[in-house]
Amino acid sequence: MPTPVTRPLLPPLEEFTPYLQEVWASGMVTNGGLMHQRLEAGLRQHLGVEHLALVSNGTLGLLNALQCLRITGEVITTPYSFVATAHSLLWNGIRPVFVDIDPATLNIDPSRIEAAITPQTTAIMPVHCYGNACNTAEIQRIADIYNLRVIYDAAHAFGVQDQGGSILRHGDLSVLSFHATKVFNTFEGGAIICPDEATYQRIGYLKNFGIVDETTVIAPGINAKMSEVNAAFGLLQLNHIEQALAERARIAQDYRQRLAGVAGVRCVPPGPQRVSNNAYFPILVDADYPLTRDALYQRLREHDVHARRYFYPLISDLPMYRGLPSAAPSNLPVACEIAQKIICLPIFPGLDQDQMDAIVQLIASVRA
Ligand SMILES: Cc1ncc(COP(=O)(O)O)c(C=O)c1O
Repeated sequence: MPTPVTRPLLPPLEEFTPYLQEVWASGMVTNGGLMHQRLEAGLRQHLGVEHLALVSNGTLGLLNALQCLRITGEVITTPYSFVATAHSLLWNGIRPVFVDIDPATLNIDPSRIEAAITPQTTAIMPVHCYGNACNTAEIQRIADIYNLRVIYDAAHAFGVQDQGGSILRHGDLSVLSFHATKVFNTFEGGAIICPDEATYQRIGYLKNFGIVDETTVIAPGINAKMSEVNAAFGLLQLNHIEQALAERARIAQDYRQRLAGVAGVRCVPPGPQRVSNNAYFPILVDADYPLTRDALYQRLREHDVHARRYFYPLISDLPMYRGLPSAAPSNLPVACEIAQKIICLPIFPGLDQDQMDAIVQLIASVRA
């Protein structure tokens, strides 16, 4: 059996049955039913945020967040992310402007943002990559000076906290993904965290075609509603999330200890946050490791370990972005280097000791 890079958290099936029975009994399977309301309330409490709107996936969450704030023109973002970050801009007719990443956090480097601002810039879309917190204070400082909006792609950042609480409170909006590969999943799903009731309401219209009531449509909204079955599964996940996060933390600590002595391999350190979620376990394969990154990746695959090169290629190297002036490799030296060195190792609740032993052994036993 191959070891995947991640596996969805699937609580025992029999625990899901009573939720489904409730959905069936209600006769309401979507459009903001009871499960949807209960999950929004449960997540607000669990995450410690005041306003949270569920959506059908993180990508539509990003699209809606941009529409919600009427973002246009140019948006400053990172090339070192999953494609959905930049795609959400193109779908809104916005030009992405790529800024290089910080070699320590692998998040957008705030010291390079100002140089990328033009009269067309309206917002910054940073990513809390791997669930490691961005330098939110510095990003906000710049946004305030230039009157820019900040939308965090927080797809990886479920449950991450800094000294002040959830990191999802930063910026104008934050967008979570609840895709099956994420720490907390609803198979497909996501949420937008917003600062007030009025914004929550507007997101509610936008995710339901812009419909306010039977005769009023206020915007060209889209269908981004989460179904009752997805929401019900989210409620079940909430019962198991603490244990899952504890298991992730244990696996991450184990990797760190066991890979510490392997020359040429560096574990990406946790970010500045107070509480991490260990959503990924990224390592960097340096020049003094006996194999190239791709050779190590192949070696792992040959032994049924399906590690992933997140994030390679860079978004800025893809055909729909590479013609942009900001996509030039000379503008993105750190991101280019990291994309050549990165491998994310398997991490998920249920990764057992034998699998961990095999992965560490495959990396540590390579001789020059
Ligand atoms: C950084 C990032 N942004 C956005 C998304 C899109 O989320 P979804 O798959 O829920 O649409 C993902 C993951 O899938 C992601 O990793």
